[in-house]
Amino acid sequence: MNFLDVDDLTTDELAAVLDRAATIKADYRETGPSDHFDGRTLGMIFEKPSTRTRVSFETGMTQLGGHAVFLGPDDIGLHGREPVKDIARALGRYVDVVMARVYDHADVVELGEFASVPVINALTDRAHPCQTLADLLTVREQFEDPTVAWVGDGNNVCQSFVLGAAMTGLDLRVATPEGYGVDDDVIARAEGFGNPPETTHDPEAAVADADAIYTDVWVSMGEEDEREEKLRAFEGFQVTTDLLGDRKLMHCLPAHRGEEVTDEVVESDNAIVWDQAENRLHAQKGLLVWLAEQ
Ligand code: CP
Ligand code: NVA
Repeated sequence: MNFLDVDDLTTDELAAVLDRAATIKADYRETGPSDHFDGRTLGMIFEKPSTRTRVSFETGMTQLGGHAVFLGPDDIGLHGREPVKDIARALGRYVDVVMARVYDHADVVELGEFASVPVINALTDRAHPCQTLADLLTVREQFEDPTVAWVGDGNNVCQSFVLGAAMTGLDLRVATPEGYGVDDDVIARAEGFGNPPETTHDPEAAVADADAIYTDVWVSMGEEDEREEKLRAFEGFQVTTDLLGDRKLMHCLPAHRGEEVTDEVVESDNAIVWDQAENRLHAQKGLLVWLAEQ
């Protein structure tokens, strides 16, 4: 099976992946590397830059006794040297799992359709489900029954988090400027789990009873042409010390200090962003091991 967005899993499967991630995290701290993936290889396609995703997947494979192959834009030109479906079919003959960070969500869908091995979405224009696994692991480590407020763009990170929240019963408020909300189909899918987020255009209202505020960049990779327009639209949506109050700060990183968040807020003791970043490693190891067992 593929993991192209959080709701490719059932709610029970999502719980199982998170449980497996928590166990793997504890085991690694106790006994170090394992041999779960002995002799196995992850192919990592990157059309866009990355710090956390590349390093956590590559390190995760090493810690599981396997190996990861980095395939950047100069190695695999997704729409240059050969069609996406041919890349998928060739890679499936070599590696045991494919991970892809691409611009167009349709490309990861096509990879998933044509690869004979599982394909994991490592960020597209629509979704970032691996980030959500790490976020849900972090939330469950740090809170009991929390309310989280998303303040900012209804982007890829937000959309996958909306689904993850809906599937795990997390109370979520989403504040976005008009015209930058979560896609209707994502809200409909969250409704399908009986727990859609409350949506608003008012950050103050969203954070009122929240335990944590989650934000992300206003200008995502691939949106550079919209930069000026977006900076104007997002005025009033910056997470400042005033808005944060005594709430925790969540951010998938990289953070653009001075845009969606202030430097002071990122550097404050209320920021749990480094725990989220670390949990990418554990959550993805949980996912890889769980997928290999299906
Ligand atoms: N959060 C995240 O995916 O970070 P990178 O872009 O550095 O991989
Ligand atoms: N929304 C951001 C997330 C980066 C991890 C982007 O797509 O650039």
